[in-house]
Amino acid sequence: MNRKWIVAIATMFSFSALVAGLSIAMADDEGPVHDVMEKINSKSNAIKKAIRAEPGYKKAKKELPTLVKDLVQLSKDTKELAKDAVKKAKNVKDAEQQWADLSDALTKELEKFDAKVNDSKSEYKDIKSAYGPVSQSCTKCHDVFRVEENGF
Ligand code: HEC
Repeated sequence: MNRKWIVAIATMFSFSALVAGLSIAMADDEGPVHDVMEKINSKSNAIKKAIRAEPGYKKAKKELPTLVKDLVQLSKDTKELAKDAVKKAKNVKDAEQQWADLSDALTKELEKFDAKVNDSKSEYKDIKSAYGPVSQSCTKCHDVFRVEENGF
């Protein structure tokens, strides 16, 4: 075989290895963190939907305590996944500590939200505005731990 062919075949081979490597990196949508995030997202969306507007809130009100309770539990489950999260966060400093702090922060905001939801003196607007800090604690963790490819 002449040299040109060897170079061409070698180039093709390394190119397909690169493509395979890239698709593995990009298809990174499984694992325990991903699974818990899917659940967190669906609960969070249900809560946001319930508090979006006052008429809807009046109807959905009685479901809120359970949704919040479930989300608090999922937030605690998230904290337990530090080992898995850290594996994917090679560039994050003190990753394990940050993971613990950021998931605790979410739990804390959720517990405040829970207190508002269960306080009979709360009005619709109090409950709606109490969810803001919860969403912010989602973003704070994503800023640190979520890799670009996820597209969020
Ligand atoms: C302690 C850190 C942390 C907190 C807090 C957090 N997330 Fe995430 N989230 C992640 C990480 C890491 C990923 C990427 C997971 C993966 O794909 O491996 C992610 C991914 C997601 C995804 C994309 C699904 C996926 O796995 O690709 C959604 C949607 C999401 N989070 C929603 C939320 C919402 C809503 C909240 C708040 C109620 C929240 N997250 C709080 C760390 C966090």
